[in-house]
Amino acid sequence: MNDTAVKYELSRSLGIIRIDNPPVNALSHKVRAGIMQSLEQARTDDSQLLLILCAGRTFIAGADITEFGKPPQAPSLPDVIIALENFSKPVAVALHGTALGGGLELAMACHYRAALPGTRLGLPEVKLGLLPGAGGTQRLPRLVGPELALEMISGGAPISAKKALESGLVDQILDGELEPAAIRWAQTLLAESAPVRPTGERPVPTPAQADFLDRHLQKTARKHRGQPAPGYIAELVKLSLSASLEDGLKRERECFLACKASPQSAALRHVFFAERATGKLPDIPADTPLRPTRRVAVIGAGTMGGGIAMCFASAGIPVTLVETTREYLDKGLEKIRQNYANSVKRGRFTAEAVAGWLDNIQGTLDYDDLADVDLVIEAVFENMAVKQEVFGKLDAACKPGCILATNTSYLDVNAIAAATSRPADVIGAHFFSPANVMKLLEVVRAEKTAPDVVQTFMKLARTIGKIPVAVGVCHGFVGNRMLRAYARQAQLLLLEGATPTQIDQAMENWGMAMGPLAVGDLAGLDIGYRSRRDQGIESRSVLESALADTLVEMDRLGQKSGAGYYRYDPDTRARQADPEVEQLLRDIAAEWQVPQREIGEEEIVDRLILALVNEGAAILQEGIAARPSDVDIVYINGYGFPSWRGGPMFHADSLGLDAVIARLRELRELTGDESWEPAPLLQELAVAGDSLGSLNSRG
Ligand code: CAA
Repeated sequence: MNDTAVKYELSRSLGIIRIDNPPVNALSHKVRAGIMQSLEQARTDDSQLLLILCAGRTFIAGADITEFGKPPQAPSLPDVIIALENFSKPVAVALHGTALGGGLELAMACHYRAALPGTRLGLPEVKLGLLPGAGGTQRLPRLVGPELALEMISGGAPISAKKALESGLVDQILDGELEPAAIRWAQTLLAESAPVRPTGERPVPTPAQADFLDRHLQKTARKHRGQPAPGYIAELVKLSLSASLEDGLKRERECFLACKASPQSAALRHVFFAERATGKLPDIPADTPLRPTRRVAVIGAGTMGGGIAMCFASAGIPVTLVETTREYLDKGLEKIRQNYANSVKRGRFTAEAVAGWLDNIQGTLDYDDLADVDLVIEAVFENMAVKQEVFGKLDAACKPGCILATNTSYLDVNAIAAATSRPADVIGAHFFSPANVMKLLEVVRAEKTAPDVVQTFMKLARTIGKIPVAVGVCHGFVGNRMLRAYARQAQLLLLEGATPTQIDQAMENWGMAMGPLAVGDLAGLDIGYRSRRDQGIESRSVLESALADTLVEMDRLGQKSGAGYYRYDPDTRARQADPEVEQLLRDIAAEWQVPQREIGEEEIVDRLILALVNEGAAILQEGIAARPSDVDIVYINGYGFPSWRGGPMFHADSLGLDAVIARLRELRELTGDESWEPAPLLQELAVAGDSLGSLNSRG
């Protein structure tokens, strides 16, 4: 028997199949085999109806992703699902938690479905570069119609139990505890002599709009570029309208296998596990006792401080927001109210939820109000002297053991910690803007930060919905340090003859959410300008910032001033190439004696992406990040790197480290720039025949 993953029990006329495969009841081999064995038993016993349910926190959350790279083991999921659909006695399934991927596909092949009210139902395979490979593309259209099916399968987002009931995906919402409620429901079905009802025999409802597929393809073209799965999904939903179930399933299997073997899916599966691995710190035991974080304070009610306060308030944690003047405080609180009101307008949250969250935020001008808080996050101006002054005050105001965090993008957290008498309690928290939306959080471990402070902060970050990545102290930590190397190449390429449009388009075609110069214009060129002056770099004294400095001094600050690297249409904000910038580039290149030439898309991509790779490798060697997959997560979640390429480090492995090193050397030859010297870590790994990925298993 398959240990305890699946148990079958006959309770009078009801055959109950219980699945218990923690943590998420994934459809591992033992579960598939267990279901088949249960069906064998039920075939000949006195059961008249079967009921499937799951133990633990959730119904089946999908196929077991860890099995994807391994040789398949029978029975396959499609075989199990066909066996359920064709079973001679009616099969009912009760859902709770999340019914995802193969889990929902299995449920769709059962004859009756019910769910607890909080259940989320979805086919998220597209997020793993896949498509539902066990009938989902053919059965979902039969149950909910082709439009909603297409939206669910190609978007990957789950729907609520309420929507599932309205759309016909489930027949019933259960009331109360899962098992007794499910048994009551199954007994009603028995009493009604509910017949076998195979989903595959139902026709697909006619779509309300005949051109729904074309509209969908148009709407999602940009989001889905570079990935094969969404195209197949559209094809398969279309096929469900005309093909038999059998033919539909056959084509679905072919497409699924093609996706499973695609580099995009390998990359997205890497990202799935990488995202979950960031919290596992190699040198801090997982069971380290945590400090309490019941009350939080945020210093500074500006854009960052307000956004950070919202993160805690929305997670139900009371926040005290501290400002220096009543005017700033009122302005900050008003901005928070507006942000929340906008999210209600957009339908993201309900007005009641938001009202409760707003009540979690209290403003003050007085540091004495911080005496009881467990954690403070300072989010004042990015300036060492200002931050050190705030930390001196926090040291005096906060109770012993209170965690003192600084929200900084670049500054030395050791120096900030040194402004207190308790550097072990000080940690860096690099939030990304807008802080209430962006998921990435770099958690900066300073030299003296205590392990329990790190562990507490990492856990808390998950509580407020962030993906935390632990990083060490260096200028710009992981993300901004890599960005600097990347942006530097963009600037050098401009002077060597590429235009802003060429560079941005090359990078966007490659998959970046936005090209580097468009990003600069969006963020505001004055930010970098000020930061360079703060670092004591004189304006236009450095080749790679000569253009940016000149633009700012011409009042071309980016989108906000209507012009930067581009000119912006005042109404549509559409970017337009600007001949004035191209002339400026020629002038600066002449002044710095940089020879100009035609530059192709491939060189642009190689230079920007390999700059990330080389810098990422240096960061790893210095121990600033614990593992390559952490670097990938930073760059994907903070900087618009395409997740279907797996992140810069994963991408380097997929190119092969020998090829990466060879290209770095070519670029050094071509440009004479010593920064192309391959990072020693890359060379060591290549010599040993290893990959960056081999370092992911540490810790
Ligand atoms: N296979 C294997 N392991 C899985 C898994 C899966 N489908 N889903 C989750 N896990 C593991 C996670 O890696 C994690 O392991 P560790 O604790 O060792 O890190 C553990 O289960 C808990 O997962 P989370 O930390 O994500 O827990 P959560 O409560 O935050 O979220 C969840 C739970 C919503 C189910 C989330 O894990 C999730 O979205 N899982 C993936 C769902 C999915 O993509 N399913 C489709 C699979 S592909 C498929 O089914 C193809 C097909 O058609 C045949």
